[in-house]
Amino acid sequence: MDKHRVEQSFDDAASAYDRHAVIQRVAARHLADRIQTRWPHLNRIVEIGCGTGNLTQWLAPAYPVADYLATDLAPGMLEACARRMGSRLRYAQVDGEQAECTGHDLVASSLAFQWFDDPVGAIRRLHAQHVRLGIATLVEGTFVEWKAAHARLGLDDGVLPFSSEADFQKLAQDLGATVDFETIQEPYPQAMDFVRAIKAIGAGTPRPGHRPAPLGKVLRQFPEGITVSYRVAYLLAPVS
Ligand SMILES: C[S@@+](CC[C@H](N)C(=O)[O-])C[C@H]1O[C@@H](n2cnc3c(N)ncnc32)[C@H](O)[C@@H]1O
Repeated sequence: MDKHRVEQSFDDAASAYDRHAVIQRVAARHLADRIQTRWPHLNRIVEIGCGTGNLTQWLAPAYPVADYLATDLAPGMLEACARRMGSRLRYAQVDGEQAECTGHDLVASSLAFQWFDDPVGAIRRLHAQHVRLGIATLVEGTFVEWKAAHARLGLDDGVLPFSSEADFQKLAQDLGATVDFETIQEPYPQAMDFVRAIKAIGAGTPRPGHRPAPLGKVLRQFPEGITVSYRVAYLLAPVS
């Protein structure tokens, strides 16, 4: 991934993000529930890719005396999160793919790892730092409707190369972790609304090497609007 471009795109989107991030709120809530049920007592938490605080808003209050470090690649996102969550938390600009988390009880992250060059490798690296992991990320099956429309037209879809469910099942087995999958769908009355929403949340950076497709041709495939699938993996790993 072009990390600078990803950072810039999310930075620019920080003020509009919450108006469009519907799926992200759902996934964050579902991850927070899983983490709280599994680990009711935690003292040092680091969150990767906190964005405007969709996961933070559930997780931080659940551990009211924990030291909570919220991190993100994009400074604008960190500022938005700090405005929402206030000064009880600490904030830092960190590339989560390089994060050093030794000494924390938990690394939590919702819908950020799909932006990494190697999400599975990053999870293995973090797990080797002897921390619990509670991670939700997108896997194959995400945007299948959009991808299929491009495939029918012989066009390059530009969608990120997501990890497969098999990758996550193997990872979970290796780490002694649990993983479960959920498809969350969002309907858009017009396909162009989907394109606008993706850009508005800062997630419009295409796969490296993508050749832009003629958008009009793709949009005409959806005269009745589009319902878009997000396939979410929830991985909970104990300390190694
Ligand atoms: C789709 S948003 C999710 C934000 C938030 N966790 C939520 O659930 O709404 C993805 C976030 O990951 C951040 N991000 C992308 N690549 C990152 C990286 N390498 N390290 C840390 N954060 C990253 C983006 O800046 C953005 O805030």
